Amino acid sequence: SPFSPDAIVSDTYRSETTELADIDWDNLGFAYVPTDYMYIMKCARGGSFSKGELQRFGNIELSPSAGVLNYGQGLFEGLKAYRKKDGNILLFRPQENALRLNIGAERMCMPSPTVAQFVEAVKATVLANKRWVPPPGKGSLYIRPLLMGSGAVLGLAPAPEYTFLIYVSPVGNYFKEGVTPINLVIEHELHRATPGGTGGVKTIGNYAAVLKAQSAAKAKGYSDVLYLDCVHKKYLEEVSSCNIFVVKDNVISTPAIQGTILPGITRKSIIDVARSQGFQVEERLVAVDELLEADEVFCTGTAVVVSPVGSITHKGRRVSYGEGGFGAVSQQLYTVL
Ligand code: COI
Repeated sequence: SPFSPDAIVSDTYRSETTELADIDWDNLGFAYVPTDYMYIMKCARGGSFSKGELQRFGNIELSPSAGVLNYGQGLFEGLKAYRKKDGNILLFRPQENALRLNIGAERMCMPSPTVAQFVEAVKATVLANKRWVPPPGKGSLYIRPLLMGSGAVLGLAPAPEYTFLIYVSPVGNYFKEGVTPINLVIEHELHRATPGGTGGVKTIGNYAAVLKAQSAAKAKGYSDVLYLDCVHKKYLEEVSSCNIFVVKDNVISTPAIQGTILPGITRKSIIDVARSQGFQVEERLVAVDELLEADEVFCTGTAVVVSPVGSITHKGRRVSYGEGGFGAVSQQLYTVL
């Protein structure tokens, strides 16, 4: 390994077995599985993070008055580690998550770990939980960094203390459909984000805000909700937990990053891959009407990776895509990714 977790881990961790955990690796979904260790680092308002440590995974103590509980001063990240056939473990672009957390922290008035601190902490946490990284082809270890105002506040203000925490959980497919295309419904009443708001950063409130529409959609048999912009109500934004791409005549279009959608790391990677494969990629306003003409639609995200969309329902009208699997373009991009 090119890095040494020795400085921050205890002897208990070093004596941990490197065997695989005893779980059913063939049936992983996207559900919380408690693992062995978590990483914690704290700092005061106006200060900077210096030294964190691995601790046994478990509940944490927070004041009922913590900024994150009362005023939603919190961000999260999501990234994955994969086990290779040779036994080595790969992280997918952790520096990108570190940079995104930095930007989100600035928006939410929080201090943030440096990119180097973030990446080292991720590596240490993954190594400490090595036995939970699924065998090749069975899934991945989902890494969930949190940054929160953990200090007590009563009046509305940035919290006096911040906690950066990382926990991990082995995961398989995000949607219960697995690799079967998902069915989306467009939401007209509720919006995920507004210009000038926090839709472009990974703050926890963005995800609470979509639960109502998502629950209603699931109750009607849809996989998830596709949101439109809240000003014109006609341009695509994103799905509750992932970005969206539309393919027409081999041109790939996706909503531009303008502050109301999450700058997904898989989104960015797919754009890079598509351009490297010779596709024309357009980041722009994508009108909902373009869905009617599209050849293929797919979603990207850390959790969903690349998910083909089988249908989108808009004002009661259902438009279907593909033959029940990946379309040609999304299959090619997924394979290269
Ligand atoms: C991810 O894709 O990592 C996310 O953060 C989405 C989350 C709702 C699972």
